[in-house]
Amino acid sequence: MQRTHSCGELTEKHAGKEVVLSGWVSNRRDHGGLTFVDLRDRYGITQVIFNPKTSRSVQEKAKELRDEFVVAVSGNVVKRPKGTENKELSTGAIEVQAKELEIVSRCEPLPLEVSGKTLANEDVRLKYRFLDLRRPEMQQNIVLRHRLGKVVREYFYSRGFLEIETPFLSKSTPEGARDYLVPSRVHPGKFFALPQSPQLFKQLLMVSGFDKYFQIVKCFRDEDLRADRQPEFTQIDVEMSFVSEENIFEIVEGLFKDIFKEIKGINLKTPFPRISYEESMERFGVDNPDMRFGLELVEVTEAIKGSGFKAFSQEIEYNGIVKALNAEKCGGFSKKELDELIELAQVHRAKGLVWFKVASGGLEGPVAKFFNEKILKELASKTKAKENDLLLLVAGKEEVVNAALGSIRRELGKKLGLIDDKKISFVWIVDFPLLEFDEEEDRWQAKHHPFTSPQEKDLPLLEKEPGKVKARAYDVVLNGVELGGGSIRIHRGEVQEKMFAALGISKQEAEAKFGFLLDAFKYGAPPHGGIAFGFDRIAAMLAGTESIREVIAFPKNKAAVSLMDSAPSPVSERQLKELKLKLDLEKKGKK
Ligand code: AMO
Repeated sequence: MQRTHSCGELTEKHAGKEVVLSGWVSNRRDHGGLTFVDLRDRYGITQVIFNPKTSRSVQEKAKELRDEFVVAVSGNVVKRPKGTENKELSTGAIEVQAKELEIVSRCEPLPLEVSGKTLANEDVRLKYRFLDLRRPEMQQNIVLRHRLGKVVREYFYSRGFLEIETPFLSKSTPEGARDYLVPSRVHPGKFFALPQSPQLFKQLLMVSGFDKYFQIVKCFRDEDLRADRQPEFTQIDVEMSFVSEENIFEIVEGLFKDIFKEIKGINLKTPFPRISYEESMERFGVDNPDMRFGLELVEVTEAIKGSGFKAFSQEIEYNGIVKALNAEKCGGFSKKELDELIELAQVHRAKGLVWFKVASGGLEGPVAKFFNEKILKELASKTKAKENDLLLLVAGKEEVVNAALGSIRRELGKKLGLIDDKKISFVWIVDFPLLEFDEEEDRWQAKHHPFTSPQEKDLPLLEKEPGKVKARAYDVVLNGVELGGGSIRIHRGEVQEKMFAALGISKQEAEAKFGFLLDAFKYGAPPHGGIAFGFDRIAAMLAGTESIREVIAFPKNKAAVSLMDSAPSPVSERQLKELKLKLDLEKKGKK
């Protein structure tokens, strides 16, 4: 029996037609001489009825059906009797009066519920991902992901961008994570690196004259995983020649306008607001601010100076700062709630968190006695404290203070229900620093990557005051999630040399790592710039899921393992021999 229709398309219009449907048994109900079967495929559910009009042998066969059997049914489309229609289903006005039934394949007892929400934990879902993907929620997510890809492709095609593939077996790209390596059999001892991004190749394509490039492409990064990170993930990668930041912003805003219109039916307001990295850190403590709510941080170093509170005065002495966050109306927080906030601050390496409750007579708290009246008043005024507010203060190095209060702000935003789920708050973060100091390695690192152009006006500072140089780099943030980032690139050899010098990369090292790009720049390199977006992150935002694993068909778990096919897995002795590799897996301390 060959299906004539899907399980989602029959309506009253088809009444009287003879049809064949194929799909999975989603539910079977027996009512005396009647058997109802909900037949499901990815387009919907159709009710099939086996009754005395059906031959006895087919009625008997229908009794064998169990959830998730695959069947083919032929029969007539009939209108459902008045009062038995199901408004929830697109096919709810009709049912199929079964004539013939073929059981195509049977199903063993299921390890997880597939016809609705599942209570199974994520490990079970990932092990049986092929079943998890049958669930309506997952089907919708995967369809949404497909539609997103379609909108993105159509957008770029219609603007003259070329979709060009770049190699997976390539050399290391400097995006800051560890590489996934692939050993070469033909060249023993040599390795390919899977690309962390197509960064170098897209720049080479600009040198080749393909002035508008895009690609929806897999990238690979061996880094600590979180809800929004996977070892292999997908980017929308874009590069353009002869452009300024403004051209790129316009293209990107147009892209998101199309995405939201097509997928959510929402008209986005553009241009997106822009704030500098510095302002973002100052006000929100992070460079991916969720601007749907307030609770902004306020620097109070000056106001606090001269207090008798040692923990603070010491930090200030060592170039630290003090910042405060006014958790409005939280004066009633319990000890447990306060302890949780202190713990969160400590996770971000803050030595502590000081709190004051705002009472009618002024600020109160365990350390209030160390601050004189004038300081407390100043603190209250700077933070616009009102009765029953809670002030939270952290002192220390700027980055520690920002990280601690930034994450407390986020936590409180959720806990206090300050976030309006319907709000869509895009923001461009601009004017990033070009470099950041890596304390562990005791050297400057590129904040984005080493090909990011410094701002022209800051070029003279690159040698002597590298920390002050701003980059022509930008990120797009939506509701507190970094969706993408990019930059105008360096295309002049002498600037690139200065950049390498600032990063402590020698000529030889630069030659060995990126020689091919530097070489290309000698043969007529156009000015160029671009951006890349996390495709999975955009899909997750649109689907309203917290984790990108929900919008990836076959993701890895938090330990970078694919539970379904058990990858990574050992390989045979023979494969290792061919690659001329020897494993050294002996546990430490074991001779
Ligand atoms: P960047 O490293 O910022 O830039 O990456 C761009 C975007 O990719 C997404 N992303 C990830 N998504 C899921 N899992 C991961 N492990 C992961 N890592 C990154 C984020 C991020 O904003 N070549 C540059 C772009 C450029 O300069 O044009 C780059 O890759 O959403």
